[in-house]
Amino acid sequence: MEKKEHNEGVRRTRCMCMVILIVVGMAGGLWGLPQRSSSAGQQSDKGKAIYEKLCLACHGPRGKGDGPTGKVLIPPATDLTSAATKKKSDTDLLKIIRDGNPPTAMPAWKGQLSEQEIQAVLAYIRSLSK
Ligand code: HEC
Repeated sequence: MEKKEHNEGVRRTRCMCMVILIVVGMAGGLWGLPQRSSSAGQQSDKGKAIYEKLCLACHGPRGKGDGPTGKVLIPPATDLTSAATKKKSDTDLLKIIRDGNPPTAMPAWKGQLSEQEIQAVLAYIRSLSK
């Protein structure tokens, strides 16, 4: 008799736990949604994918200009985390990414990347030097 009551108690407690988990899970989901679609994080994620595909070979995995191709170029690929690059305005850097930087090896990307993608990759570059 006593044992049965105890079992019911356990079952009820377990049940409460499930309810709490579901409620917390749902709240977490709602919380997560606006965060995931917030532009800064998403832009930087998108920028990272583009960077790793198109820029890493020259500018290196952390933007230091030490990619396998970048370090043998003359002039070498820029260290994008350097003070000199950090000081430049978004407008200046966007222009270099769009139009390239002749006569250096920095290619023009405007034919390959949309304006949005160029801005995303810049956001990622900025995040490397934080
Ligand atoms: C073929 C090698 C190469 C690739 C690929 C490349 N870059 Fe460059 N990048 C360079 C070189 C070389 C420079 C200029 C060095 C100089 O001016 O002394 C440069 C300069 C830059 C600058 C200007 C930095 C400054 O302070 O003036 C930015 C920004 C930049 N690259 C971004 C990118 C992005 C974004 C990508 C990919 C979409 C990319 N680069 C791909 C070689 C490359």
